[in-house]
Amino acid sequence: RTVYVNGTYLPENEATISIFDRGFLMADGVYEVTSVLDGKLIDFAGHAKRLERSLNELDMPHPDCLPDLLDIHRELVRLNGIEEGMIYLQITRGAPGDRDFAFPDPATCTPTVVLFTQNKPGLANSPVAKTGIKVISVADQRWARRDIKTVQLLYPSMGKMMAKAAGVDDAWMVEDGMVTEGTSNNAYIVKGNTIITRHLGNEILHGITRAAVLRFAHEAQMQVEERSFSIAEAQAADEAFITSASMFVMPVVEIDGAAVGTGTPGPVAARLREIYLDESR
Ligand code: PDD
Repeated sequence: RTVYVNGTYLPENEATISIFDRGFLMADGVYEVTSVLDGKLIDFAGHAKRLERSLNELDMPHPDCLPDLLDIHRELVRLNGIEEGMIYLQITRGAPGDRDFAFPDPATCTPTVVLFTQNKPGLANSPVAKTGIKVISVADQRWARRDIKTVQLLYPSMGKMMAKAAGVDDAWMVEDGMVTEGTSNNAYIVKGNTIITRHLGNEILHGITRAAVLRFAHEAQMQVEERSFSIAEAQAADEAFITSASMFVMPVVEIDGAAVGTGTPGPVAARLREIYLDESR
């Protein structure tokens, strides 16, 4: 695999960064995951905009290559021959000479930029979309600025491990009795003709797939309510699903051992997945 590090395309086993990189020492970095379908980037503009916002919220200097990111993404997709998969981009505050809690002076420390591709043939036709996934609920113990897409992913990783230990696919995180989001996706329920998903705020990541799916739902005259919901309300809903750049729209058929609706993927999630895949290509 060819990867990108600070202006250079090179084989992954030749790529290096400093042990003093603040991404490594402090999780002082932000990232984006953009999906690739038919060799084309999906929703790149949205990801680029959110990336810039993440950088600004953390007072992180913009790397010189920021205006060229679209070209860099395309070049990496081309070099690795990706038809279906993802492209991962990470920007950290860089590597000052020594460890220090204070941010380094941007005049002496430049951001580290890393990109790599993940080849996932069959991503859009995933058989999992036909059966759906199962989730458990876990307490949301992340920091309070989940709207910033930082690389501090230890708690979401632990949530995923709790799900695995429980024999299910993923975890929905709960705070003050209400679902925030999945470990790496936004959460939705469907009641009657209404799609319900948590309102935007600092408590959740503002998903790029979420924005697209809600736009398509409005265009298809579906009702949308942006508000929080509890696990009990989700278990009693007609359908549940998640969205993310790597899963698109994925039905959820079981929450904490209780079947949602019929316990099989519902028509609203299936239709939204189809519309999303059709319209984004
Ligand atoms: N995760 N919420 C969280 C906590 C996420 O990590 C993600 C994305 C989303 C969905 O956002 P989007 O639709 O823009 O992908 C919501 C990516 C895919 C990841 O960490 O791999």
